[in-house]
Amino acid sequence: MSDASSPSPASGRGRTVILTALVATVATAAATAMLVNIFERKQESRTPVVRVVEITDDTEDPAVWGQNFPLEYDGYRRTVDQVRTRFGGSEGVQRTPTAADPRTIVAQSRLEEDPRLKTMWSGYAFAVDFREERGHAYMLDDQTFTDRQNVVKQPGTCMNCHASTYVMFKKLGNGDLTKGFEAMNQMPYSEARKLAKHPVGCIDCHDPVSMALRVTKPAFMEGMKAMKASQGVADYDVNRDASRQEMRAFVCGQCHVEYYFKGAEKRLTYPWAKGLNIDNMMEYYQEVGHKDWVHKETGAPVLKAQHPEFELWNQGIHARSGVMCADCHMPYTRVGGTKISDHHVRSPLLNINRACQTCHKWSEEELKSRAESIQARTYRMRNDAMDALVALIEDVKAARAAGATDAQLEAAWSYQRKGQFYLDFVEAENSMGFHAPGEAARILGDSINATRQGQIALRDSLAGKPVTMATPAPKPAAATEAAPAPAARKSN
Ligand code: HEC
Ligand code: HEC
Ligand code: HEC
Ligand code: HEC
Ligand code: HEC
Repeated sequence: MSDASSPSPASGRGRTVILTALVATVATAAATAMLVNIFERKQESRTPVVRVVEITDDTEDPAVWGQNFPLEYDGYRRTVDQVRTRFGGSEGVQRTPTAADPRTIVAQSRLEEDPRLKTMWSGYAFAVDFREERGHAYMLDDQTFTDRQNVVKQPGTCMNCHASTYVMFKKLGNGDLTKGFEAMNQMPYSEARKLAKHPVGCIDCHDPVSMALRVTKPAFMEGMKAMKASQGVADYDVNRDASRQEMRAFVCGQCHVEYYFKGAEKRLTYPWAKGLNIDNMMEYYQEVGHKDWVHKETGAPVLKAQHPEFELWNQGIHARSGVMCADCHMPYTRVGGTKISDHHVRSPLLNINRACQTCHKWSEEELKSRAESIQARTYRMRNDAMDALVALIEDVKAARAAGATDAQLEAAWSYQRKGQFYLDFVEAENSMGFHAPGEAARILGDSINATRQGQIALRDSLAGKPVTMATPAPKPAAATEAAPAPAARKSN
């Protein structure tokens, strides 16, 4: 740029103006051309030259959709790939097939990798079998054959996130999606399993005519509606009110979320009625008095977190910048002359070029190293939090063996409940902190603080000193719907 002190300012400035104008024109033209180009490409890929087959709202089989959209179908089928990354990806382990479980390859056991998990989850089905997750192609099989099926009678509710459910729900509910959802939740797993034919399919994320994204899982619709209500938005309807950009995350949030089974009808529920962050969820669980299981060694009523990718991502810088799950996990890719979304959903660290470099100009090595240093820090802190939790569990166990009463253990239990849920939230989340590094560290810090305070509370309680409960305080076990309001409880 020229300034007053440069030689021959007049001509210099004149040239700059012309040049700027020219650059601007070219840039606008280029941008327009690019937009038109992208638009045409989108139209091109959405409306194949030849619609080989007719797809309706009852076409469940992805192979049929694949005849019209072979490129997306090809990616979808490649979710069978298993490639390990430092903290994620997938790893197959060879095994001898049996009649009960005909698989020749299973995913790596996380319990063998870290036996402390068995102590954390003692008395719960997860302490029996818990594995590294793999690609979408395996979701139905991995659920059918997990040993967690053998120790507990699982409900049909499990099927919600492990199968193509849209057509099944409509059939079960005589055309009413929610009625079908309710019917399936109440079936035994083995019965629901007979109705499921495919892992998540095209119809679970797409409208068959326009190919626009849509949400088809009632639990997500209901969870978002409750969450929006807490923000003062009445009658939120995700399919009516979400933007196209939001849908690029919401279709994944149908399943990659924390959940529990509510009431005798085992309704799949996402605990978002007070908001999406972990403190909101903890408060919700305290209020409804939910427990996932009673810890076998300590007797504490505890909570297990499950894959809260959507919630943790929501607290991070990428979500705040409008970067959606599909941007990293299903990036645009060019196949011949067509630009498509890569339906080979997998770790973005196996695909840094397309998953990250569209936005970041750092080298592949640098991007990988930035992601892995976030993960290595999170992993270290997760280990400290797990050691702290195991130490609390050991202390309570010893006190119990020495004859401590439930009343003496109650405060320590409340801290175990909090420390366990907060640690598990980061442990169960599958990005090892990447989706929201600061929030993951904060949560682990809160976890360590809670378990260490639990040890202090136990010591004081056994010595007959006054103690405080974890915040927020759990609903007293004795309280029922009919009982009078519980007495105020001291908490810190
Ligand atoms: C900015 C990019 C980005 C966004 C946005 C993003 N992720 Fe991730 N995700 C990653 C990275 C990086 C990892 C770590 C992969 C690894 O360790 O191999 C990851 C890991 C995962 C994993 C575990 C994958 C594995 O191979 O172990 C799942 C599941 C996942 N993300 C789901 C989601 C969901 C659901 C959303 C949206 C709610 C989302 N991600 C948003 C980048 C992203
Ligand atoms: C809200 C959706 C949802 C529900 C309901 C659900 N799952 Fe999953 N499940 C997932 C997601 C997402 C993954 C992959 C991420 C992970 O493993 O953390 C997964 C992974 C798994 C895996 C492979 C990894 C592992 O844990 O060994 C098994 C097995 C499994 N689920 C079994 C079950 C069973 C049994 C039930 C019912 C009690 C169930 N799931 C209910 C979403 C769900
Ligand atoms: C119907 C529920 C469902 C939906 C919808 C869903 N997922 Fe998954 N996802 C799962 C389950 C279940 C697994 C684990 C399967 C297994 O371990 O057998 C999984 C596994 C994954 C993995 C791990 C892959 C690997 O190789 O380890 C990633 C990454 C992932 N999902 C990302 C996404 C993204 C991004 C979206 C949205 C575009 C999405 N998922 C939509 C249920 C779902
Ligand atoms: C877990 C959700 C999910 C599933 C399952 C899924 N898609 Fe998609 N699909 C997406 C997302 C996200 C996009 C990007 C849409 C956007 O940006 O508006 C997309 C885009 C598309 C498009 C538009 C062109 C493009 O590639 O961007 C087509 C066509 C398509 N998918 C076909 C299919 C077919 C065929 C299947 C089944 C074999 C399938 N999809 C399964 C999430 C899904
Ligand atoms: C669609 C664009 C987009 C994609 C794709 C994307 N990012 Fe980002 N990333 C951003 C934006 C925007 C920020 C916020 C900071 C900024 O404005 O530069 C960010 C921030 C980051 C940060 C700093 C995080 C922090 O807490 O300060 C890292 C590290 C990062 N990205 C890594 C990645 C990696 C690795 C991938 C691929 C897996 C990726 N990003 C994919 C847009 C993107």
